[in-house]
Order: sequence, then C-alpha cells, then structure tokens
Amino acid sequence: MPAVHIKLYVSPSTVSSFLSLSLISSRKVWLSCIAQVDCSTAPVFQIASSQVMVGMAYDYAKNIEERPDPVKADLKGNLPSWLQGTLLRNGPGIFSVGDTTYNHWFDGMALMHSFTFKDGEVIYRSRYLRGDTYKDNMAAKRIVVSEMGTMAYPDPGKNVISRVITFLNHTVPDFTDNCGNNFIRYGKDYYATSETNYIRKVDPVTLETQDKVDYMKYLAVNLVTSHPHYDKDGTAYNMGTSIAEKGKTKYTLFKVPDTTAGGKANASPALKNLEVICTVPCRSLLSPSYYHSFGMTDNYFIFIEQPFKLDILKMATAYMRGVNWASCLKFFPEENTLIHLIDRKTGKEVGIKYYTEAMIVYHHVNAFEEDGHVIFDVIAYEDPSLYNMFYLNVLKEQSKTSAMSVPKCKRFALPVQTDKGIDVGDDMVKLQYTTASAVKEKEGKLLCQPEVLCDSVELPRINYDFNGKKYRFVYMTCVAMTAVATKIMKLDIETKERTEWSEENCWPSEPVFIPRPNGEGEDDGVVLTTVINSNPGESGFILVLDAKSFKEVARAYMNAEIHMDMHGYFIPMEN
Ligand SMILES: [Fe+2]
Repeated sequence: MPAVHIKLYVSPSTVSSFLSLSLISSRKVWLSCIAQVDCSTAPVFQIASSQVMVGMAYDYAKNIEERPDPVKADLKGNLPSWLQGTLLRNGPGIFSVGDTTYNHWFDGMALMHSFTFKDGEVIYRSRYLRGDTYKDNMAAKRIVVSEMGTMAYPDPGKNVISRVITFLNHTVPDFTDNCGNNFIRYGKDYYATSETNYIRKVDPVTLETQDKVDYMKYLAVNLVTSHPHYDKDGTAYNMGTSIAEKGKTKYTLFKVPDTTAGGKANASPALKNLEVICTVPCRSLLSPSYYHSFGMTDNYFIFIEQPFKLDILKMATAYMRGVNWASCLKFFPEENTLIHLIDRKTGKEVGIKYYTEAMIVYHHVNAFEEDGHVIFDVIAYEDPSLYNMFYLNVLKEQSKTSAMSVPKCKRFALPVQTDKGIDVGDDMVKLQYTTASAVKEKEGKLLCQPEVLCDSVELPRINYDFNGKKYRFVYMTCVAMTAVATKIMKLDIETKERTEWSEENCWPSEPVFIPRPNGEGEDDGVVLTTVINSNPGESGFILVLDAKSFKEVARAYMNAEIHMDMHGYFIPMEN
C-alpha cells in the first residue's frame, strides 16, 4: 500500500522535470480544514481567558461511534410546521486506528450526520464515509493514508534511504478521498467534499457512501474548494487550482449546470456538463495561493489571491523528508494580497488592479453590487496560526490558551467605474455606509482598506436567497476568549448590533439559516445549530432559533453523541 502520492510531470518548458503534486491533490484536505476550522465549530482559540470553558474539556481525539440506524430525538418545544427537510453535517470523527493517531484534528476520517425534520419530529443518524481511505486504514488496522497534517508511513520502520526508494517506486498517485469538510450539490447528486480532486457521492437519506468522482476526469484541477456558489436555477459555480499543468499553474472558475432542470435530465454525474468560465494565472508556477472560498455577485466573481502559499517542491519531497504537507504552506506577511474581480459574462478581469495588505481568508461571507462598487465581506486573519491551533496535541491543552490572530469580519469596497479624472491619492469609494476605502495609486492600482464589521467570529452563514445581493444579517460562531465556540451570534451589519445565544457547558456549531417558504424579510426563518452538551444527564441537541429574535423555538435531544464538525448543508423536503 503506497504512501507516496507523487506524480511525475514533465514540463516542456524550462523546468525539465519536476515533481509536482497532484498528490496533494489528493490527500485530502489539506486545508479543508484549515478553514474549517475554520471551519467549524470548532474550536477556536484565543488569547485572554476570562471566560474559559466551564466544567469540561472536549476530547478532540476521541473516536466517535456512528449511529446508522435512525434515532428519534426527544423534542422540547414546537417545530415550525414549514420546517421540513434534512440538515446534513460533515466533519472528522475517527482520529486513531490501531496504535496510530492523526496529528491534526482536520485529518480525522469523515463522520457524516443527518437531522431530518418531518411532521414535527427530528430523526438523527450518522455514518462514516466509507471511502478508499477508510477501507485502506481499517484493513491495515493503522493509518496508512496520509492527510494534510499527518504523513503516513505504512512501514514506519523504514529509514530515509528506504523512504526514498519507496518514494521513487510510487510515482502513481494514491489520493485520499477522506471528504470530511462539507457537502456539495451538483445536479441531483450530493457529494461529501474536502479540497482535493476527489469527491464522494453519498445518499443524503441513508448517508451511505457511493461513487468516487475525480474532478480531473472533467477538468485539470488538483485542488477544488468545498464552498461553491449556486444560482437560482441550481447551477453550481466552483473554482480549483491546476498545478504545473502543461507548464502553467492557474486558478480555474467553472460551472456545473443543474441536470435536473432544463433538458439535460439524467446526465449523471452533472460534472459531465462542466463548463470552464475562465482561468486566472498564478503569480508563481511553484507556489499557488491557498484559498478556501470565493465571492459571487450577479455580475462578478471575487477571488482573493493571498500570500498564503503552497510550496510545491517542498510538498513533493515531504514524504522523503519525514514532514507533513502542512509544513509546506507558508504565509508571506511582507507581500500584498491581490483581489481579482472577474466579469461573469466575459470571464475577463476588470481593468483595475485591486490589492490590500497581507491577510488570510478562509470564508467569504457575501458580496453585492451597488452604485458602481462591488462590496464583499470576509473573515480575515493576520497570520496562519489558526491551522496550528488544531493539532491534536495543542487542542489537548485547551486550558493553556495560545496567542493567535483574532478573526475579523471585514468589508471591502471595489470601485468598478473608470479611474479617469481621479487623482493619485484619492479614495474612489463613494458609499456613505462604509468606511472601506480604495485609494488610487500610480499605474492604475487601487489600495483597498477594509472596514471591520466585527471581530472574533467565524463560520459565517447568511440567508442564501440574498447571496450576491445587498444584505443585512450574518449568523456566525463566536470564537473569542475560548478554545472552542461557546456562542453563536446574529450580526446586523447596518446597526452593528450583535445578538447572541449561549448556554452553560454547551458548544454550538456553525449556525445554518433556513428561510421560511414565502417568508417576508431577510431574517424570516430559523437558525439551526447542533450543540455539544456536557451538562450532566443531558445529550447533545439540535437547536432551533427564531432568526428574527434569535430566541429558542425548540430543541431536539439526540440521545446520541454529537461531536465537533465543520459545515452543514440543508436539503428542503421537496428536493
Ligand atoms: Fe469552510
């Protein structure tokens, strides 16, 4: 069972032949999580500690048992009659196999959950993603497939020389399909996803693992995000990175039409109808930027090319050097962050060059257009410490808080009108409701400075009916003052008012907004969050909050163990 996941590419250009990783591609996650932690519920760290978790220390490294048979939850309160559908959630659930343990929380093997709301009841089930990674690890009774934070050696007794031989003997990639970050819908199919070229089709009702799908069969991409966007007609938009493909490294935006609508029915997988929208050249052939999501308005895509880069050559030799791939990801605080604004119709970048200071963004919140500007909101960090906070040995010492940059929700405004007649040094942003600026510099560049909407937040969700449109409300986890999220909040961007929900000894997950059918207003609906509960004699529960008031409507105790996860996807009953 090979552990090397390297592919030899022969570049016709200058680089004679170098090791590129397609590999990475494969091995999951890699960042998937990064973000997640982004993604997730997770835990989030912090510095001060006046409000450290009371009474419990969550065991991040504990393997969680699956509950594949439906479990009826104990309901407290009354569910809205219109709330009918299934919330899928995904995240790592197995952290050790035999006597081997992953190094990083994001590396854990995927455990999927479903919470089905039907006729006033909630039914819960969970199931491991039984992909090739799961099967190989379980068959070997140890971890034999590498992940971003864990380099696996099937035969740990080998010395460096033996590793080199193994390395050279395994030029064919053996990618991970441990898709434990999120779910994506392409056409009529649902997929568990990480950020590699593999996604895994799943049955959204039974959570059974189905086909393994390789993006590379349809498009040359080594990495693809777990955060696509969707149009009203069901078309999905996503982007990925091609590493040193035909001598070029580039970012590719693509779309996948909904094959269940409009004449292309029965085309499965929908990826067969994938269409490339455009490509953006990478600043460097061998060090593409990492990104976890992107923004989309009615007319534009927003792609942030940040100085948080993957060193491809280091990654290609990581196995031999005995280090994990995560060590090959580096932040360059002295460099700028480029902001690419791409016209959706033409696939071309607008003529203005936007940039800002170095930052790391995992999650876009939303973006919209107004009065000649594109406004977009993101959760931004000043350094890459987030990923390191999720090494299991770090998480184990939760009481010892570590310094890391506080995530801030930032608003940027990009003027799209011509800069003719504008003097160098002038701010081109003419909106009254934001302090974000875009100052003209020489050579037609605009230096963008954001407005901070709030800080210490992550895992943003909105009413997706307002995606790409001017909006007012964001639902997020609060990550301040603790190593885990102990609160969720609703932010009113207009008034800056924060409304929070928390309960003693409870850890809520990413809050997912569900709109009331034919509802009135952006916040007409409910917010769902799964809650790990350490109060004696109580099980974890799913909480239903009225989105307007952020008050509890109902909760359903699962009679099963809820665990930290990453992202969720709600499927309305009619789908
Ligand atoms: Fe994420």
